[in-house]
Amino acid sequence: MSLTPPESPASPVPTPRPADRILAADVMQRLNFPETFGNSRPVEVELGAGDGSFLAARAAAVPDRNFLGVERLLGRLRKLDRKAQRAGLDNVRCLRIEAAYFLEWMLTPGTVSALHVYFPDPWPKRRHWKRRLINERFAELAHLALVPGGEVFLRTDHTGYFEAMEPVFAQNPGFERIGTPPDLAGVLTDFERDFHAQGIPTHHAAYRRKAS
Ligand SMILES: C[S@@+](CC[C@H](N)C(=O)[O-])C[C@H]1O[C@@H](n2cnc3c(N)ncnc32)[C@H](O)[C@@H]1O
Repeated sequence: MSLTPPESPASPVPTPRPADRILAADVMQRLNFPETFGNSRPVEVELGAGDGSFLAARAAAVPDRNFLGVERLLGRLRKLDRKAQRAGLDNVRCLRIEAAYFLEWMLTPGTVSALHVYFPDPWPKRRHWKRRLINERFAELAHLALVPGGEVFLRTDHTGYFEAMEPVFAQNPGFERIGTPPDLAGVLTDFERDFHAQGIPTHHAAYRRKAS
C-alpha cells in the first residue's frame, strides 16, 4: 500500500479585498475609527442605510472621507457592500446593529463629522411615537458623537414626524439649524427616489453642533 498522499488540487487563492467592509465589531466596545478605516479621515455615519445607494454615491463623491452604514437587515447591508465593492470604494464600512444601541454604546464621543438619518420608520400611531429614533435623547447622543461643527442631516416623507423632529433640535442649545447643502440634497436615497416617483414630497432638515 502506498503511503504517498493523493495529489491535492491547488487550493483556490481568495480574491483580495482592500478590507472587510461588513464589520465584525465587538458590540461591548466603542469603535476606533482610525483602526476601522486604516486612516484618520473624517467619518460620516448613516443610520438605517437600507440598500445603501445614498452612502455608496456619497462615498464615491467624497473620497477623502470615510463612511459607515448602520443597518439592522443583513440583506440590505450586503447590497451596500456589493455596491461599494463594484465601485471599488475603500472608504465604506457597514455594521449590522440596532441604530439607537449603536448611537448610545458604540460611537466614540467626538468622532463623527456627519450623521445622516433618512426615512427612519415614522411610527405614525401616537402610542408608538416612543419608538421613533429621532427624539430628545437622539439629539443628546448626536451632540456627544459629533465633532464640534459636525452636522446632522434628516429626511422624511412623513410631515408629522418632521414636525416632531424640529423642536427636538430647536430645544437643544448645542445645535443650530442650517440648510442642507445642495450637493448633498442632490444625492437621493433609494426610498426618496421611490417617493418622488410617486409624487410624494420629502422634507429635509440639517443641524450643526455648535463649537462649545
Ligand atoms: C425606510 S428605510 C430607509 C432606507 C434608506 N435610508 C433610504 O432612504 O433609502 C429604513 C431603514 O432603516 C432600517 N432600520 C429601521 N429601524 C432600524 C433600527 N432601529 N436600527 C437599524 N436600522 C433600522 C430598516 O431596516 C430600513 O432599511
